[in-house]
Amino acid sequence: MSDSTPTLAASPTPSVLAARHRSVELEEQIASTPGRFRVLTGDRPTGPLHLGHYFGTLANRVRLQAAGVEVFVVIADYQVITDRDVAGDVRGNVREVLLDHLAAGVVPRTGTRTGPGGPGATIFTHSSVPALNQLLLPFLSLVTVAELQRNPTVKAEAAATRGRGMSGLLLTYPVHQAADILFCGANLVPVGQDQLPHLETARSIARRFNERYAAGREVFAEPEALLSPVPLLLGTDGAKMSKSAGNAIALRAGEDETAALIRSARTDAQRRITYDPAHRPEVSSLLLTAALCTGASPEALAEEVGDGGAAALKAVVTEAVNEHLRPLRARRRELADADDHLRAVLAAGNEHANVVADRTLSTVQEALGMTC
Ligand code: TRP
Repeated sequence: MSDSTPTLAASPTPSVLAARHRSVELEEQIASTPGRFRVLTGDRPTGPLHLGHYFGTLANRVRLQAAGVEVFVVIADYQVITDRDVAGDVRGNVREVLLDHLAAGVVPRTGTRTGPGGPGATIFTHSSVPALNQLLLPFLSLVTVAELQRNPTVKAEAAATRGRGMSGLLLTYPVHQAADILFCGANLVPVGQDQLPHLETARSIARRFNERYAAGREVFAEPEALLSPVPLLLGTDGAKMSKSAGNAIALRAGEDETAALIRSARTDAQRRITYDPAHRPEVSSLLLTAALCTGASPEALAEEVGDGGAAALKAVVTEAVNEHLRPLRARRRELADADDHLRAVLAAGNEHANVVADRTLSTVQEALGMTC
């Protein structure tokens, strides 16, 4: 996504500004020497991905891979149970997330392919890579409980569970996430602002491991955040678009379903359509959605709709979304019938992730003198 992508985000903190500045430099390096970078990123399999994911992260993964960066994608199944009491249909949701990635254009590792971006993306689940999870033990020794308790994202997630109480897994999942990143030697992690504290944890763990357990040898490189100006899309109820809020337009939704969802979206009483994120968040989010789909600016789209009101705006947005997602959805329908292929993709990803994780765990155990 370009720097000029309009966002609806609140004003940035100094650490966010620093990460943004560094990300501009990193983008330049990616353009000139993509082979230096390995990306690890992922999602919790709690349901099919939606437009917010697509424009926030999925399209970025496709872009990085196409630029020649090697990509690892974790379908973070153990993270599903950080903030809820039931796991839900994890197997079905893993499949949905995998389908969304492939339909969006992530080229998966199949065991044979080589080309730009390496041999294809390694797509794997936590639960299939035991050595990755075992890294959690030595890594937990490198952080203090006070540090974990200060993590603002974890605090916000705990608050959102309303009285559920902070579980040990919720408190420590940033450490688990550090294992996701460090086991495969990823040096670049595309993140939204909320994930920046987790990346700091991963950097501390890498640094401390090298200092304390490896006599200063660089066993782990410190990964860097690639902060793209992620557009914050609002859901149909005007709150942040999210799977759990039930206000999202899923990538897999049909065209009529998409039209109905957009028709039901909250707007405001003003007939004239203008792009004004601060004062008209719902209307502006709809304009932004159409802008992201068409490449036009939200201001120009607002001008086009003019006095047509919410109904005309929604017609424009529906057309833009359905048009933009048509090829993705067609691929998704085809892939949904290709069960063997889906299983093979996940098997190839899990197999490679295991090879890499076993090697990393051996290095870690060797540094700790735990080999017999
Ligand atoms: N926490 C991320 C999310 O909720 C998913 C995730 C798991 C992740 N492990 C990661 C992201 C490692 C970046 C790096 O979407």
